Amino acid sequence: MNSPMFSFQWLPFVCLIFLSSVSATLINIPRLSPIGGKFLHDLETVSASISDDLKTFYYDQTLDHFNYRPESYTTFQQRYVVNSKYWGGATSNAPILAYFGAEAPLDGDLSAIGFLADNAQQFRALILFIEHRYYGKSIPFGSREEALRNASTLGYFNSAQAIADYAEIITHVKETLHANYSPVIVIGGSYGGMLASWFRLKYPHVALGALASSAPILYFDDITPQNGYFSVVSKDFKEASETCYQTIQKSWSEIDKATSQPSGLSNLSEEFKTCRPLSNSSELKNYLESVYSTAAQYNHPPDYPVTIVCGGIDGAPSDASILEKIYAGLVAYRGIRSCYVNEPRNISETTVGWRWQTCSEMVIPIGRGNDTMFEPDPFILSSYIEQCRSIYGVPPRPHWVTSYYGGHDIKLILHNFGSNIIFSNGLRDPYSTGGVLGNISDTIVAVSTVNGSHCLDILFAKESDPEWLVMQRKVEVRIIKQWITKYHADLLAYKK
Ligand SMILES: *[C@@H]1O[C@H](CO)[C@@H](O)[C@H](O)[C@H]1NC(C)=O
Ligand SMILES: *[C@@H]1O[C@H](CO)[C@@H](O)[C@H](O)[C@H]1NC(C)=O
Ligand SMILES: *[C@@H]1O[C@H](CO)[C@@H](O)[C@H](O)[C@H]1NC(C)=O
Ligand SMILES: *[C@@H]1O[C@H](CO)[C@@H](O)[C@H](O)[C@H]1NC(C)=O
Ligand SMILES: *[C@@H]1O[C@H](CO)[C@@H](O)[C@H](O)[C@H]1NC(C)=O
Ligand SMILES: *[C@@H]1O[C@H](CO)[C@@H](O)[C@H](O)[C@H]1NC(C)=O
Ligand SMILES: *[C@@H]1O[C@H](CO)[C@@H](O)[C@H](O)[C@H]1NC(C)=O
Repeated sequence: MNSPMFSFQWLPFVCLIFLSSVSATLINIPRLSPIGGKFLHDLETVSASISDDLKTFYYDQTLDHFNYRPESYTTFQQRYVVNSKYWGGATSNAPILAYFGAEAPLDGDLSAIGFLADNAQQFRALILFIEHRYYGKSIPFGSREEALRNASTLGYFNSAQAIADYAEIITHVKETLHANYSPVIVIGGSYGGMLASWFRLKYPHVALGALASSAPILYFDDITPQNGYFSVVSKDFKEASETCYQTIQKSWSEIDKATSQPSGLSNLSEEFKTCRPLSNSSELKNYLESVYSTAAQYNHPPDYPVTIVCGGIDGAPSDASILEKIYAGLVAYRGIRSCYVNEPRNISETTVGWRWQTCSEMVIPIGRGNDTMFEPDPFILSSYIEQCRSIYGVPPRPHWVTSYYGGHDIKLILHNFGSNIIFSNGLRDPYSTGGVLGNISDTIVAVSTVNGSHCLDILFAKESDPEWLVMQRKVEVRIIKQWITKYHADLLAYKK
């Protein structure tokens, strides 16, 4: 079983995730990124062709939108990127599609999040990408080192400040373009999707509607069962292959058994071809857990990483031991490498930033009972709080998200309040368990796909996309068009 330090639920959400950054040794939480490992290659070619149309700007952003202390007035440069190639212009009140950066530098999103560019032409829309504060080039306090120094400087790093930033930049862009009556659709994935949906509720005068892709806004407090995340990971593997699921389920005690032998760890290090000798069995277990979680979260077509892992496990020679099969699965997923498991890497901005975010505001209680293919590892709030306090000197506020944005009884609360939000999910994404999966009203709707993965709908469309994904995007576009058409009619009726 994991020591508490390792049981931290900290894999970020980014729509994009790169394995090297998933298995942060210190912390181990499913990430919330929109983009997963294997997409990167395709994306680079895409970005080369679109980058000519992108113009980068910096906005003088206010450090603290909510107080009037001298320090609050400090400013920093916040990056945003505009593509006006398809825009119909201010005179026709043509729309703006605004993407909300999440817990990563904006660069990866520019080359991966295709929903805006793919649809800008038919909407005659301006495209706007905004970077989240404390990531990439949008760093307050003059340097990253200073910004991340301690809780005094990190204190301005939270979602309320971030969406206030977005409101200011959208307003600024509209003023600059004299596009006061251009409707704005905000789009985000994962944590960025949460921001988009919350933004529509808090800033209806700035955004006409929101597309919130894979946004687990209900994975707070006790709204979603702790084991939601890992039960979907397990289900994905079971559906791909029952024998693969069973092999993984049995492997944890095999690792323990191997470790308890004399020179067991060095034997395991050899068997898994680790880059450095293993210090303990958790090092291997955590790594394998993050491989399976990442494969499930980013289980996208056409390659379906879960199928790849299970192909390796099931394809091992029939006399292979359980751990030899596990190793074969790892090699199938990661490819032939000089070594595995504790590969040298630099800790990513996402890992560092998300650690603070999850230790302050974004407390997402992911734990495991005995109903998954993993070892039990319950989420224990009190030890989580203590670990965060020991890192940052201040404790998290696990209930703030639901106090500030809501979440409990969401259908009861929102069916009569709010409008124009699409919650899109792929039900093979483990984070979908914390998503909105049912329609709340005529205009707060859930658009899910049975076989979809994390943030799939907002990535660039590809030739090889299956029909269900093409359909999901079509439904989303149709709904957004309805919002805009209604808005333009309202504009004629109300704006005298
Ligand atoms: C953070 O660091 C600064 C500069 O070293 C110091 O003045 C401040 O008191 C520190 N804050 C906390 C909470 O430790
Ligand atoms: C190492 O593992 C292999 C098979 O997994 C086993 O046959 C061998 O006895 C082990 N060696 C040691 C020194 O534990
Ligand atoms: C296991 O080894 C890793 C890497 O050396 C170390 O960071 C961690 O604290 C160890 N965990 C336990 C439970 O001893
Ligand atoms: C880590 O970052 C340094 C400096 O940017 C770079 O030279 C090095 O190759 C990186 N290492 C890995 C493993 O990515
Ligand atoms: C799983 O946990 C439940 C509740 O703690 C317990 O009743 C059940 O016996 C456990 N099942 C197994 C297979 O250990
Ligand atoms: C919710 O409504 C949308 C739009 O009408 C529809 O496409 C979708 O299938 C509905 N979702 C559910 C879960 O019923
Ligand atoms: C989802 O995938 C499974 C097999 O992986 C397939 O049998 C099923 O038809 C798919 N469902 C949809 C709605 O495409």
